[in-house]
Amino acid sequence: MKYVVTGGAGFIGSHIAEGLVANGHEVVIFDNFFSGKKENVNDLLAGPNASLIEGTILDSATLRKAFEGADGIFHEAAIASVPRSVADPRETHEVNLSGTVNVLMAARDCGVKKVVFASSAAVYGDKPELPKRESMMPDPLSPYAVTKSAGENYCSVFSRLYGMQCVSLRYFNVFGPRQDPGSPYSGVITKFITNTLAHKPVTIFGDGKQTRDFVYVKDVVRANILAMESPVSGVYNVASGSQLDLMELLEIVANVSGIRVPVEFVQPAAGDVRHSVADIAVAQEILGYVPGCSMREGLGETVQWF
Ligand code: UD1
Repeated sequence: MKYVVTGGAGFIGSHIAEGLVANGHEVVIFDNFFSGKKENVNDLLAGPNASLIEGTILDSATLRKAFEGADGIFHEAAIASVPRSVADPRETHEVNLSGTVNVLMAARDCGVKKVVFASSAAVYGDKPELPKRESMMPDPLSPYAVTKSAGENYCSVFSRLYGMQCVSLRYFNVFGPRQDPGSPYSGVITKFITNTLAHKPVTIFGDGKQTRDFVYVKDVVRANILAMESPVSGVYNVASGSQLDLMELLEIVANVSGIRVPVEFVQPAAGDVRHSVADIAVAQEILGYVPGCSMREGLGETVQWF
């Protein structure tokens, strides 16, 4: 099969591209290197089954060129920062929402049968009911979350109107190699590992008892490929289905790296969600998604990468 990965040089997109090539598919990496990096895909591009189109999802003509003859699109390209979306809602709106409509229209116009869209657990907001189920009413609390929620609605409408299948995957806290350690917006795991390996203290906002549903990027790849190959549309959580607090997380990082660093506790971050965990029963039942990587395994591979 021939697949296009928008944002294919980014953190998650590059892992999807790699997974597809490993499964014997042909991959077109579509990226404008806004946050994606050449070094994430250099190895892939050296092989015969991956190619690169440098372009933006705001340019429909380039999208159509990339999508010609494709069997499916993995749409990962986005501005992935909540604070950036709060500072400049219009920029995030353009890229994440207008960009998604462009991707869906180009897919429709090129006769592509399937689009898998990277959505986010951010669409749930911070209501206390747990675990988060796909049937819960979205409650976006940032412009970023609005774009992901509306993107899901567009996917649903395109699958109803134009005879294509569209799946939205709500990623929970994804971690793994290539999550940019230099970004102020990178996840807590990347920050903990960066500081631990540098023998520097880690900062914990609040008491460290807040929990997240951390999912290793290789499980996210598995979910994407299952979503592409299952003859369905709809919205699915992509997570591990289990809850870990920050103190437990730090303990595993210490065990895996063999380095223990001091903790500096500071004020809880404004707007921080206390607990988050997904119900993955629907993804399990409909897509056959079963997370296969333990936290220890995922963290071990991530530490190795640094
Ligand atoms: C994630 C997203 C965020 C989105 C939210 C809603 C990432 C990086 N962030 O935030 O954009 O709005 O989901 O679904 O994926 N923490 C520390 N020390 C640190 C860094 C973080 O204690 O150095 C704490 C945070 O306050 C938070 C927890 O660790 O309580 C997780 O933080 P983070 O990895 O940023 O993810 P989310 O807050 O879940």
